[in-house]
Amino acid sequence: MEDKYGRKIDYLRISVTDNCNLRCIYCMKENHNDFLSSDKKLTDNEIYRIVLESAKLGIKKIRFTGGEPLVRKDIMNLIGRINKIEGIEEIYLTTNGILLLDQVENLAANGVKGVNISLDSLKPDRFKTLTRRGELKKVLEVIDKCIEHNIKVKLNTVIIGDINQDEILDFVELTKQKAIDVRFIELMPIGQGKLFKPVKNTKILEIIKSEYKELAEINRNISEGPAKYIRVNNSLGRVGFISAISNCFCDYCNRIRITPDGFLKQCLHWNYGVDLRTLLRNGISNEELNNIIKNNIYNKPEKHLFNEQNKNEEIRFMNEIGG
Ligand code: 5AD
Ligand code: SF4
Repeated sequence: MEDKYGRKIDYLRISVTDNCNLRCIYCMKENHNDFLSSDKKLTDNEIYRIVLESAKLGIKKIRFTGGEPLVRKDIMNLIGRINKIEGIEEIYLTTNGILLLDQVENLAANGVKGVNISLDSLKPDRFKTLTRRGELKKVLEVIDKCIEHNIKVKLNTVIIGDINQDEILDFVELTKQKAIDVRFIELMPIGQGKLFKPVKNTKILEIIKSEYKELAEINRNISEGPAKYIRVNNSLGRVGFISAISNCFCDYCNRIRITPDGFLKQCLHWNYGVDLRTLLRNGISNEELNNIIKNNIYNKPEKHLFNEQNKNEEIRFMNEIGG
């Protein structure tokens, strides 16, 4: 369906847990451990009901995120159920990849078309420092295994001043070796992200341009979301840029979100939305649920205002929203 600004909303991002097996420095504190208890998280059946009604309203694409979605118990079973809902055409996963190796076959069997893997360093030591506990080797193995199983891989890479800026061209190089997209995501001033120095994508593009003379810009395909892509030297994969701050892409926004505790968010940045968990647990009917989701889609805000102070600004951390 369309929202009041005429944007077609067909994409639902579901954060299934705020918990994570890593502690990336710009996302969580080292000792972060006050995660939602299981009674506060939506159950599989509650998520199922929400997707069922959303699909009736024209949601076609689902992404499971976290925290780390693979730390949620029985997530594969939930994905399998969602995959059978009429109208759901595409399912994706955003993951750090660490727990994925044994699950790649299951993902493929349950209809998952692609994974976005968060990866900010290709140097094992630095990867460990950035994530405070991850093993790079596992992530690199998973990337190859996904490609073998025809699961599309996109890397989400956050470049941070004074930390991994020197790896920009190494990430670009990866798109020459493997049929994967690498997307540079600008650090957002959310949670711990406020403590680090963002590097603008315009700067990253300049660095890439100085190395590669032959750059093809690829037209933006709206259904592909907020990334703008280029290709260097006819390589297999593409290099993408997601620039929430320096380049507002709200005009193309096609998504709504559910947090692990069941808040339907109209926009990443704003806290507008509705607490579906309470409504579901108070016995709301499918018809009422459908109406509430419809109203919230219709009323999506026009744009985020990251650059301005605002009282309705989101105060949740990224792991509580799902990126
Ligand atoms: N700004 C931008 N991206 C972030 N992520 C986590 N915190 C931030 C932030 N402050 C990213 C992770 C991952 C995705 C789920 O969200 O790197 O790719
Ligand atoms: Fe986990 Fe992603 Fe946050 Fe890293 S950025 S701690 S992988 S939720």
